[in-house]
Amino acid sequence: MKFSNTLIKWYLQNKRDLPWRKTTDPYPIWLSEIMLQQTRVAQGTPYFLSFTAAFPTVFDLADANEEQVLKLWQGLGYYSRARNLHKTAQTVAYQSEGIFPNNYSDLLKLKGIGEYTAAAIASFSYNECVPVVDGNVFRVLSRYFDIETDIAQASAKKEFAALAFELMPKNNPAQFNQAIMEFGALQCVPKSPNCTVCVFNSSCAALQKKKVDQLPVKSKKTKVRNRYFNYIVVEDDLGNTIIQKRTAKGIWHNLYEFPLLETEKVEDFDTVARQIQQQFFQENEIASLLEYNEQSIIHKLSHQHLHIKFWKVSIKGSIENGIDLKTAKTFPFPIVIHNFIEEKL
Ligand code: ADE
Repeated sequence: MKFSNTLIKWYLQNKRDLPWRKTTDPYPIWLSEIMLQQTRVAQGTPYFLSFTAAFPTVFDLADANEEQVLKLWQGLGYYSRARNLHKTAQTVAYQSEGIFPNNYSDLLKLKGIGEYTAAAIASFSYNECVPVVDGNVFRVLSRYFDIETDIAQASAKKEFAALAFELMPKNNPAQFNQAIMEFGALQCVPKSPNCTVCVFNSSCAALQKKKVDQLPVKSKKTKVRNRYFNYIVVEDDLGNTIIQKRTAKGIWHNLYEFPLLETEKVEDFDTVARQIQQQFFQENEIASLLEYNEQSIIHKLSHQHLHIKFWKVSIKGSIENGIDLKTAKTFPFPIVIHNFIEEKL
């Protein structure tokens, strides 16, 4: 049987019942595809449900304020996705009366919509014959056809897209795209796939050559950067604290955090305590200064490992522009700070 026939037959028997598959409306399809990048279905689904409940239409999302959007996104990571989602909702709502572009190349022009997302929306909503190429597709095709191209190279996408396009039944691109991603997510999984029960176990080139665990080939990413963050959790006589918005470009743009002292390397207690005192406070302003965590919390992002300590700094008197904890909790924080607040404050 042809590759696509076997794949689609498998899909019809094994597919999961997922909320974004019950519609061809580009708005929820777009939301789901943005959320599911770098995110598993089990993690992304609750966010999809809370977003569609809070913002049932693209107009509701466009009219929300950015803080509301980031708060609902809290914990999903890669926050530029949320900021672009919000901007694109405004473009679609205010510049084209809430109507999404109805083809791949016009979808690509929207902020935050790359080749993968444009292909997903164009095929799922409009049945356009454009193949999706995500990590699942790289894995399935590289194994089935024994392709050793390094998928970290930019040119790999073109090669796999051309192959997927050839394989795709032109009368049902939507089903083929869903099927190949589902097959990668459920059967042709990255580690120890159960090939004995696979529908392709007599035709998969990698299985025949005992190379399943070597494919796809992916060269190592750039080195990670270590950073050392000391968060200053101020508490004054009224029980108020200070939070601030990260406005600089880079990680966590537009999320909130406590005042931050970043050091170049691991420093001992006395050095950090002295720097906090000198850089943030007047003489005699501090009543006490303690570490909440002696061991740094290591928070891993894709290209950075953050070594985080929280410092409790009790202040005599009251601070200007202080904020109480209950109000502070309504702001969007990186998940590592949110968890600290929930557990320790
Ligand atoms: N991951 C990315 N897009 C998906 C989809 N439409 N269904 C299931 N998993 C996905």
